[in-house]
Amino acid sequence: MTGFSAYWLSLREPVDHRSRDIALQNKLRSHFEHLFFSTDRPMRILDLGCGTGSNLRAIADSLPAHQQWTLIDYDLELLKAAKAELTSWSGAESTAELSPLTITRQAKQIEVAFLQEDLAINIEQVLAKDCDLVTAAAFFDLVSNSWLTRFCGSLRCPFYTVLTYNGDEQWSPVHDADAEMLQAFHRHQQHDKGFGVAAGPNATEILIEQLRLRAYETETASSPWVLTAPEDQMLIQALAHGSAKAVQETALVSNETIQSWLNRRLKATQCVIGHSDLWSAPFKEKNRV
Ligand SMILES: C[S@@+](CC[C@H](N)C(=O)[O-])C[C@H]1O[C@@H](n2cnc3c(N)ncnc32)[C@H](O)[C@@H]1O
Repeated sequence: MTGFSAYWLSLREPVDHRSRDIALQNKLRSHFEHLFFSTDRPMRILDLGCGTGSNLRAIADSLPAHQQWTLIDYDLELLKAAKAELTSWSGAESTAELSPLTITRQAKQIEVAFLQEDLAINIEQVLAKDCDLVTAAAFFDLVSNSWLTRFCGSLRCPFYTVLTYNGDEQWSPVHDADAEMLQAFHRHQQHDKGFGVAAGPNATEILIEQLRLRAYETETASSPWVLTAPEDQMLIQALAHGSAKAVQETALVSNETIQSWLNRRLKATQCVIGHSDLWSAPFKEKNRV
């Protein structure tokens, strides 16, 4: 397991939501508004690596009136947390364990199913389900080049993924070891998270190449975390500690340098972490309306 804690996911959720590229999200909205304009059929959505359900909370308001989500993660505790979070977010009636949830919110009816699945193993079976959109947030940098090939080869519908780490980082004030630390951090990013050597910051480029080979149109946008506000301090500190620990595990940088970098970073006043969002649909999809 990669071991993402519900606490870490709750710390990043408000920043994730404000960092998403709005133009690309509007493209998602208008694509499905158009397709579902004259049908009562629910829109079916698969959310890969759902964590506590942040992606649904971010985009449900942009999607058609009747939605059926399947939230997929291999971490049972996160799936339980997702159900609890969505229950309190929507004021829905609480139901047993991981049974489906029905949310009524802003004139939308949203049915949510929770599925425990190891996507490293079962991505082909998951993508064989009938669905209108495959989506994910902060997931695709964990996977490998070969898994991306499997994923793109099995994808049959539009795809929207956001907040894939792209390797750009700017911290202020600067530190002499910034470049050395970032290089080592990127090496750590490649560690196997269960999918093979992780694509890390290269994931979006690989996705674009693979999707275009399969006649999908692709459009990307930048969605950096820009952390400057006093309320961002906890996330800045968590990032600083996380990066220092990751670099230490690589043994590529001396402990003295890491400690000096960390001391400075814990007092950082500004930090920008680069991410990319990606929208992709089969070319023929455009003409289906
Ligand atoms: C960075 S978190 C993002 C969570 C959520 N999408 C969000 O935006 O807050 C990555 C998620 O991928 C899940 N994950 C990692 N490896 C997985 C696998 N092999 N199968 C299913 N889920 C996996 C983790 O449990 C975690 O919930």
